[in-house]
Amino acid sequence: RDERKTLPIYKFRDELLKAVDEYQVIVIVGETGSGKTTQIPQYLHEAGYTARGKVACTQPRRVAAMSVAARVSQEMGVKLGHEVGYSIRFEDCTSEKTMIKYMTDGMLLREFLGEPDLAGYSVVMVDEAHERTLSTDILFGLVKDIARFRPDLKLLISSATLDAEKFSDYFDSAPIFKIPGRRYPVEVHYTKAPEADYIDAAIVTILQIHVTQPPGDILVFLTGQEEIETVDEILKHKTRGLGTKIPELNICPIYANLPTELQAKIFETTPEGSRKVVLATNIAETSLTIDGIKYVIDPGFCKIKSYNPRTGMESLLINPISKASANQRAGRSGRTGPGKCFRLYTSYNYMHDLEDNTVPEIQRTNLANVVLTLKSLGIHDLVNFDFMDPPPSEALLKALEQLFALSALNSRGELTKTGRRMAEFPLDPMLSKMIVASEKYKCSDEVMSIASMLSIGNSIFYRPKDKQVHADNARLNFHTGNVGDHIALLNVYNSWRETDFSTQWCYENYIQVRSMKRARDIRDQLEGLMERVEIEVCSNASDLDAIKKAITSGFFHHSARLQKNGSYRTVKNPQTVFIHPSSGLAQLLPRWVIYHELVLTTKEYMRQVTELKPEWLVEIAPHYYQLKDVDDAGSKKLPKGQGRAAL
Ligand code: CDP
Ligand code: MG
Repeated sequence: RDERKTLPIYKFRDELLKAVDEYQVIVIVGETGSGKTTQIPQYLHEAGYTARGKVACTQPRRVAAMSVAARVSQEMGVKLGHEVGYSIRFEDCTSEKTMIKYMTDGMLLREFLGEPDLAGYSVVMVDEAHERTLSTDILFGLVKDIARFRPDLKLLISSATLDAEKFSDYFDSAPIFKIPGRRYPVEVHYTKAPEADYIDAAIVTILQIHVTQPPGDILVFLTGQEEIETVDEILKHKTRGLGTKIPELNICPIYANLPTELQAKIFETTPEGSRKVVLATNIAETSLTIDGIKYVIDPGFCKIKSYNPRTGMESLLINPISKASANQRAGRSGRTGPGKCFRLYTSYNYMHDLEDNTVPEIQRTNLANVVLTLKSLGIHDLVNFDFMDPPPSEALLKALEQLFALSALNSRGELTKTGRRMAEFPLDPMLSKMIVASEKYKCSDEVMSIASMLSIGNSIFYRPKDKQVHADNARLNFHTGNVGDHIALLNVYNSWRETDFSTQWCYENYIQVRSMKRARDIRDQLEGLMERVEIEVCSNASDLDAIKKAITSGFFHHSARLQKNGSYRTVKNPQTVFIHPSSGLAQLLPRWVIYHELVLTTKEYMRQVTELKPEWLVEIAPHYYQLKDVDDAGSKKLPKGQGRAAL
């Protein structure tokens, strides 16, 4: 309780509550770590708002929602999931008792489907508003709308760095409440010349700080799990080599897929005489505050989704950050005392190459999912939806086209029965279409398993350095018969299920048991939703073509044809792509394939690939493919002269 009183926001508690009482909508701005996320919902609870309904607090990131809920339940001395809970996709840790609910912005968006006026809530706090995720931007429009006919609903829009005026204007001149932060000076250092390899440079900088600088923990911003694991490994190796010549260095990774029990480690206080280095994704930029950080290392990059509405292709790319991000990152070192920030780029780069702000996600993403959600909410006129920053009309059009091709919308743009069923699943439209289509091919059991395995991403197999051959052999077993990656995922799931979900089996097969458990959870939930959309669960394991056709029903946009040089060409909007080396089909190179996603590393790679019969495309998606698109003759045709001679 004493600690709560030392937070900057505490002094403004009563003033804030008075403002909430007086106004329906308030924009709140306060330095990261001032106590907005953890304290405001508690203040509202103490002031009696939870007696009228729940207090929702949205977060753009899953890890933040979970970790903040855990912290607040601890502060209130209640069990997590009781009075204080969280809700993220595929994981609901709340109960009848829950009064303060931390949730991802995407989950609140989905709650509109079941409760369009959010009647169960007395306050909605849209937190980290500056992140401008797609879901947050859509929430803005929806909460603004319901606030008009629910005068009892309070809206708080909060953030660390916010163009507060812009938000206030959008919410009909809502008052701005500023929480003055305490911030110590931060010394910013740049490199003299651009770094060729920022991972390398980051490691060198960590070690330099560790041996030359006074006590204080280090925070390093990396772009994702893979980079974090690389740096973790190299650091462990290097410090082991130095033995007792240097003080102890505790390495703490934090990223979205990090298992919950390991997440808590970043908040533990560092023992005297040692130093902590936190290897984090963007999550530590504003969503999470780690006490004791004195040094920040900022390589200047983050992973960002980008979308080309012309080709309909979406990719995760490593991009330079914005100036606003760079300043937030630097600020993380000056929270409890003067700090230092080491930017692994030149001051010229900072001045001339970085954009001022990150482009809102709505302007650089595929909108099919959001359009489907809005249509199910009965919002038809998307062009006139109250967007804070409207998406490019090309992207809206593309989304409508895609949903039409998936038969989720009819030619008048109205939701079809298929579309209505698809919207029930908290998945990308292509995945939900694949599931809905499984009814027709009588293989819903298999397709649900595949969808769950695809949803957990890229963390199923592991490959220890000293046992790579064994791991690869184990993996190949699931590909027997060159069935393709989707069926291989199904084989993994089914084999595990046959062992009654054995952990030992996972170890023996170099499979991450945690990922599998998550897949099982997701699958259970999908199965529950199947009942809601009245699709019978039935198995058709022996008919692989039926399963592949169901997959094609969702993913026919992602088809590609082999070229003479071993590369592939996507069928519509031609682009050169390759089969990812991790695919079971990487050596086989089938003539026609369908893929789950594209990832751009050294090349544009297709990940999770399955062979396809081209006539399926025309059979399954006649609006989208004509015979000429899949005409295979072109590559078989004999050279002109020869053809005639043969005649
Ligand atoms: O939202 P805002 O950035 O304004 O601050 P907050 O997240 O409410 O954090 C307030 C304080 O709680 C900080 O000192 C954090 O270090 C601490 N906190 C924590 O120790 N563990 C968490 N899981 C979350 C916050
Ligand atoms: Mg916060």
